[in-house]
Amino acid sequence: MKLMNSSEIKALPDGTPVEAFLQCRTKSRRIVATGKGEIFAGDLGDNSGEIKFVAFSGSTIDCKALDDSIDLGAVVHVKGVKNTHQGFPQIVFSSRDGGSMRPALPGEYDLASFVPKTNQDVEAMWGYVTSILSTIKDPSLKSLVDSFTVDTAFVSKFKIFYGARMFHHSCAGGLLEHTWEVIQYCEQACKIHPSLDRDLVYAGAFLHDVGVLRENAEPLGMTESKEGFMLGHVYLSAEAISAKISAIPGFPEATRVKLLNLILSHQRKEEESDFYPRTPESVVMACADAFGVKVSQYIRVKKDSAGADWRASRAPIGGVYTE
Ligand SMILES: [Fe+2]
Ligand SMILES: [Fe+2]
Repeated sequence: MKLMNSSEIKALPDGTPVEAFLQCRTKSRRIVATGKGEIFAGDLGDNSGEIKFVAFSGSTIDCKALDDSIDLGAVVHVKGVKNTHQGFPQIVFSSRDGGSMRPALPGEYDLASFVPKTNQDVEAMWGYVTSILSTIKDPSLKSLVDSFTVDTAFVSKFKIFYGARMFHHSCAGGLLEHTWEVIQYCEQACKIHPSLDRDLVYAGAFLHDVGVLRENAEPLGMTESKEGFMLGHVYLSAEAISAKISAIPGFPEATRVKLLNLILSHQRKEEESDFYPRTPESVVMACADAFGVKVSQYIRVKKDSAGADWRASRAPIGGVYTE
């Protein structure tokens, strides 16, 4: 049976069998009006919307066991029949029609169906990033960025990962969106200051956060990996880049240390790092990163608070005027 999202199910004629992975948004359990048996009901949802569900206890359905096994917010696998009750579309399942509901297993479903996604067009952003990278003339830096862009496993992860778990670009495609923004800020700096080594700036801007792919155990920012907790993405970016550089014969030592300085100092905060930006290109990178992060944080608070109070507060930036 074809898996469907909640809005596709809502559009089906009543009586159609359905199967889906959906997130449990609300749930409750009660005795049926006749006093015989229980009902387990609530709302299931995904990024396309929400639909009600109702389960009737029977030979294969124990409503209490279902209630106990399914946490609010968990993704569930549901099999049932679409119908309409008091004007509301719903998924009904009972022992009689062979329906079921169970917690979904990791990897069974697409996590991106349940988390916020970048508002930008992923392929358009990737097209822009690669068009900038194609202008790199330095053969060593070109080989380095190519070693990442030809790696299809890397590219597919780079397009879906969160930029950070909490504080900026916390959405599917966020890492690419952040990189896309940073490269554009860097482009402006290179236009204003033609003496900047633009090849170094663009290669560094593209690669500065690749360690995020190892910092998080899941692409969508849910949990941190052990090495992410112990080493952080800044070091992990430098390590991933160093590994690629060591596979490029004759990579110039001066380029290597300038690029690694740019990577290692890109998030320098006072007294928190031994790595100082040592070149104009490293300073451009650190400022572009802070610029992109900060602006996106303020925009996000304003968007999330629209129509609420005239001010909102959120870590790590504090108060924002939202009218
Ligand atoms: Fe970073
Ligand atoms: Fe960054």
